[in-house]
Amino acid sequence: MDIKTMNNGVEIPALGLGTYLTPDGQATVDAVRWALQGGYRHIDAAMIYENEESVGEGMKASGVPREEFFLTTKLWNDDIRAGRTREAFEESCKRLGTDYIDLYLIHWPAEGFVEAWKIMEDLYKEGRIKAIGVSNCLQHHIEEIEAVATVPIAVNQIESHPYFNNQALADYCRKKGILVEAYSPLGSTGGKVLDDPVLGEIAVAHGKTPAQVVIRWHLQRGIVVIPKSTHQERILANLDVFDFKLTDEEMAEIQSMDRNEPTSPDPDNFDF
Ligand code: A2P
Repeated sequence: MDIKTMNNGVEIPALGLGTYLTPDGQATVDAVRWALQGGYRHIDAAMIYENEESVGEGMKASGVPREEFFLTTKLWNDDIRAGRTREAFEESCKRLGTDYIDLYLIHWPAEGFVEAWKIMEDLYKEGRIKAIGVSNCLQHHIEEIEAVATVPIAVNQIESHPYFNNQALADYCRKKGILVEAYSPLGSTGGKVLDDPVLGEIAVAHGKTPAQVVIRWHLQRGIVVIPKSTHQERILANLDVFDFKLTDEEMAEIQSMDRNEPTSPDPDNFDF
C-alpha cells in the first residue's frame, strides 16, 4: 500500500474505499467490512451520502481497530450555510461511532465556507480532526480560505478520471502543497470510461482490468484515489494494483483521453 504524507506530517493511505451511492444498510456495512478485512486502511464517507451509520457499523464489524485505519467525512452545504459546523461534526462522529475524524472536508464551497473553515481549525487544534481540507474547491475558493487560514489546507478532493482529468487544478493544488484526491476516479456510476478501448488494450498488456489500470494511473500521477464498489470481488480487485507499473507512454495515453467531461456540477454554479 502506498502511503502519502500531508502538509501537516500526517500520513494517508493513497487508496481508499469510496461510499458515495453505496446504499445505506447492509450493502454499506458489507462494503466497508470487506474493504477493511481485505486490507484497505482508508474509508471515505460523507454526511450527505446518508450512510454514515452503516459505515460505522462496517468499521466495527471488520474487527480492525479504529486507530489502524484512516477515516474521512465531509461537512454538508446546509450545515455550512446554517453555521452548524461543530454540531454537524459531532453528529457525523456519533453516526460513525468514533470520537475523531482523520480528515474532515468542506464538501462544497457553499456560502459561509470560509467561516466554517475557522471552526474546523478549532476542532483540529482540539485534536478532534487529524487533518482538515476541502472538496470541490477551485483556485479562488482556496485563495479565499488561505486569506484567513492559520492551518494550511491539507487536501482538495476533486472529480478526476480519464474523461475529466482536471489536471490544471490538480497541478495548482500540488504547487501549493495541497494533496489531491480523486473522486469518481473510475468515471462514476453509469460512466463509459471503463469501456474505453484505450484502457482495454493497456489492461490486456498487464493482465489487469481497466479499473485497475485507472486506479494505477491515479496513483502514478500522485493522486489519492477512492474507488467505490458494492461488490466484494471488485473492492478487493481495486486494491490489487501494487504489482504492476504503467509505462510513461501508457500514462500519456490515458492522460490524452481527456474530453473535459465532468459528471458533477461546476463548483461555481451548483444549486444544492
Ligand atoms: P459497483 O458499485 O456496482 O461495483 P467511482 O468512479 O465513483 O468510484 O464509481 C465507480 C463505479 O464503477 C461504480 O458504479 C462501481 O459499481 C463501478 N466499479 C467499481 N469498481 C469496479 C471494477 N473493478 N470494475 C468495474 N466496475 C467497477
